[in-house]
Amino acid sequence: MPAEMDGRVVIITGASSGLGAQLARAIGAAGGIPVLAARRAERLDALTQEIPNADPVVCDVTDEADRERLIDGVIERHGRLDGLINNAGSGATAPALRTLTGTFANVLDLNLIAPFALSCLAAERMRNANGAGGSIVNIASVMGLRSIGEIPDAAYVASKAGIIGLTRELASQWGRYKIRVNAVAPGFFASEMTAELGEDPEQFPKFLLSRTPLGRGGRTGELDDAVLFLLGPGSGFVTGTVLSVDGGMAAA
Ligand SMILES: NC(=O)c1ccc[n+]([C@@H]2O[C@H](COP(=O)([O-])OP(=O)(O)OC[C@H]3O[C@@H](n4cnc5c(N)ncnc54)[C@H](OP(=O)(O)O)[C@@H]3O)[C@@H](O)[C@H]2O)c1
Repeated sequence: MPAEMDGRVVIITGASSGLGAQLARAIGAAGGIPVLAARRAERLDALTQEIPNADPVVCDVTDEADRERLIDGVIERHGRLDGLINNAGSGATAPALRTLTGTFANVLDLNLIAPFALSCLAAERMRNANGAGGSIVNIASVMGLRSIGEIPDAAYVASKAGIIGLTRELASQWGRYKIRVNAVAPGFFASEMTAELGEDPEQFPKFLLSRTPLGRGGRTGELDDAVLFLLGPGSGFVTGTVLSVDGGMAAA
């Protein structure tokens, strides 16, 4: 168990499934206190049974009052906030000419505006934490770095490219408060969001594997170390960066 997560309180949005649930398990296993934020209460309850230190908070991150309740509650219960992982997200796959602006706006609301607003609320607390600061990790995507013709999704790509720019800007503004802001850009992992690709990352569709130098999708848990590194003191001099965990897809 890496000692550096001991007792650290980290909010994970979208913790009820997929990558968020897995990251919560990793933080719990490393001795941290994962705050599980998502809308589906029964999912959060089940995960809380699995992770002894977990603190579930049913909330919709696109709702301003819910965001404030999430951050205020963490400070009330734990007296500290060390990390925030902006992971909740979704897409709206369709050609641009068949994407309604309302649909586009909803994706931006969840994938970009909610992370911005939550980061600001978290930063207010982190900068007042007796100089301790904090670490924010934004879950971007390889699709924020390159397009993939077979998966047209203008809203998703714009939101993920946007969160990479936001990461850089917030890192630049908040370094003075000892708040580090970084992004992870995953390639393709099996989850509810990617259900159409199948469950076995070794057998993902050819159009993806042929664009991936390592020739496979991401395996369960392969994002954990990258995120724990960016949360912990080992990355104390790292801010404003994007760490691709994609089998080389962004580079190819
Ligand atoms: N899987 C991949 O291959 C991949 C690749 C690159 C990037 N990503 C990114 O990784 C993140 C997680 O994706 P995933 O693959 O794990 O997808 P997923 O299994 O569909 O998980 C999405 C999570 O977001 C939560 N969520 C959605 N709307 C929410 C809202 N309004 N308020 C609070 N929580 C909300 C969902 O929980 P509730 O429904 O319970 O609220 C769910 O826990 C996303 O940002 C995605 O873009 C994934």
